Amino acid sequence: MCGIVAYIGPKDATPFLLEGLARLEYRGYDSAGVAVAGRTGGIKVRKVKGRVADLAADIPARFKGATGIGHTRWATHGVPSDANAHPHLDNAERIAVVHNGIVENADELRVRLAADGAVFRSETDTEVLAHLVAAHATEGVELEEAVRAALAKVVGTYGIAVLDAERPDRIVVARNGSPIVLGIGEKEMFVASDVSALVRYTRQVVHLEDGELATVRADGFRTFTEDARTTHRQPSTVDWEIDSYDTGGYEHFLLKEIHEQPGSVERTLSGRLDERFATAHLGGLNLDARELREIRRVKILGCGSAYYAGEMGAQLIEELARIPAHSEPASEFRYRNPVIEADTLYIAVSQSGETYDTLAAVQEAKRKGGRVLGVVNTVGSAIARECDGGIYLHAGPEISVASTKAFTSTVVAFALLALHFGRIHDLSPADGRRIVSALKALPGQIREVLAQSDEIARLAAEYADSTGMMFIGRVRGYPVAREGAQKLKEISYVHAEAYPASELKHGPLALISPELPTVALVPDDELLDKNLTTLGEIKARSGRVLAVAHRRPEARLADHCILVPRSEPELDPLLLNIPLQLLAYHAAVALKRDVDKPRNLAKSVTVE
Ligand code: AGP
Repeated sequence: MCGIVAYIGPKDATPFLLEGLARLEYRGYDSAGVAVAGRTGGIKVRKVKGRVADLAADIPARFKGATGIGHTRWATHGVPSDANAHPHLDNAERIAVVHNGIVENADELRVRLAADGAVFRSETDTEVLAHLVAAHATEGVELEEAVRAALAKVVGTYGIAVLDAERPDRIVVARNGSPIVLGIGEKEMFVASDVSALVRYTRQVVHLEDGELATVRADGFRTFTEDARTTHRQPSTVDWEIDSYDTGGYEHFLLKEIHEQPGSVERTLSGRLDERFATAHLGGLNLDARELREIRRVKILGCGSAYYAGEMGAQLIEELARIPAHSEPASEFRYRNPVIEADTLYIAVSQSGETYDTLAAVQEAKRKGGRVLGVVNTVGSAIARECDGGIYLHAGPEISVASTKAFTSTVVAFALLALHFGRIHDLSPADGRRIVSALKALPGQIREVLAQSDEIARLAAEYADSTGMMFIGRVRGYPVAREGAQKLKEISYVHAEAYPASELKHGPLALISPELPTVALVPDDELLDKNLTTLGEIKARSGRVLAVAHRRPEARLADHCILVPRSEPELDPLLLNIPLQLLAYHAAVALKRDVDKPRNLAKSVTVE
């Protein structure tokens, strides 16, 4: 999705802007641009449809300025083109704006501004902002006042950075629903929509709140609200390692992140297992045992893979704590006037912590008095700040658009929460110990699965040319099937359907043929016989079967099998999912896809 960077300081801004934009490439974009204001006056702009490298190649040596803003655009209003790329300027070329989000009343504002003489040069909603700020930046009005007055007329979401040719000593930024982070350097300041763009330059950051603006100068910043009240913000320190933002010798971020999972799971577990009481210690919940006992239901909210991880989490909570739990797409929940109950615990799941639908669902639940926890990877993100407490994943930054290590860590975090809940209710110490030791064994068991990467690559190449694939699993296996299908389609573009294995004979069995192979989750649990019967039904219709199992099924039931180590039955889904990540990755590589930047997708979906 769109990315913002900005710099002000003693150096030339352009190298930082270009490097920062390159760091944001992983979020997905179709055009890029920069604007700088120099001491000699005026704003210089370069923008292109295409990659950041194309932009860099288009920038002449004389393109210099100590204050600058940059943007990667993911088209929403208007096609990807040079003209629609940001920054956008007003007609006097005094004000330049970069914007993430959507101006919902852009059409109405455009008519009014055009009536006052503004000439529009793009189809974007963002250009409206440039003209609007310029209209307010009259003689004697400070830039921050002009931005504040302009934003008072805007309906919608935004993260913006504004440059003024007449005030190159400052950049004004604002946030409403789309992240803006200030980075504090030595007599220089950075701005980005994502810390990954500025972490090489500074670890001291301030995340703006929704409805907050900031004036950023080389020697510091001042934050204030939309009604001009000064706010006081303390910087926080980014503790992720810088090398997390490089591929570290792997061909793709996705492969690196799949292989990081033993370490990321260890970090999610670190300091949270309490062997003495056979439970989990979760300091950030902000709920004591008595309050937790009053919870009658759990509702989990997330989007895409975060929603599927929530489905696994709901099953863990029901199984270990016997509390009814259900996962729902946050993108649906927020629109359906949900009933919010005092004795329900709402849990928002998000890797980025910035997914707009999930944030809106949290706000809706809280607005109606719901208690909301977050299971979030990005410390200090909007969702983390909005929640009443929660669990940080500590999985490290996830760069690849396809979520893998954050997905696994989310399920591990739910296992910890379910264990904690369970031990407060009726989970016996013996069962608690069973789960604690299974959790401790997970990193080593994930390593065992990863060691099969070459064999899985061979299988993936064999199955990748199918027109589609079916993924099936029963009960605990069903969310695994859903996530496996999601991973395959998002990075390989192979059509994939997930079904509960039990539902096959109620319709989709009609699809089974040699052209539509099935990936079947076949754990050695109480449903093994049922699953083997389903495999027989597929084979009887000449379907090909790739089983992911604890024990190799008879050859007549499965054409191929990937074996995974056994955990405890409740935790088996975690391990069954890892081969499906590798299957999707290797299928995408076999099909020569752009694995880390799949078409049409963005890492954080910060628009509605
Ligand atoms: C995962 O592979 C997807 N790219 C996507 O479904 C993602 O999980 C979803 O958009 C939610 O993102 P979040 O965890 O950052 O909120």
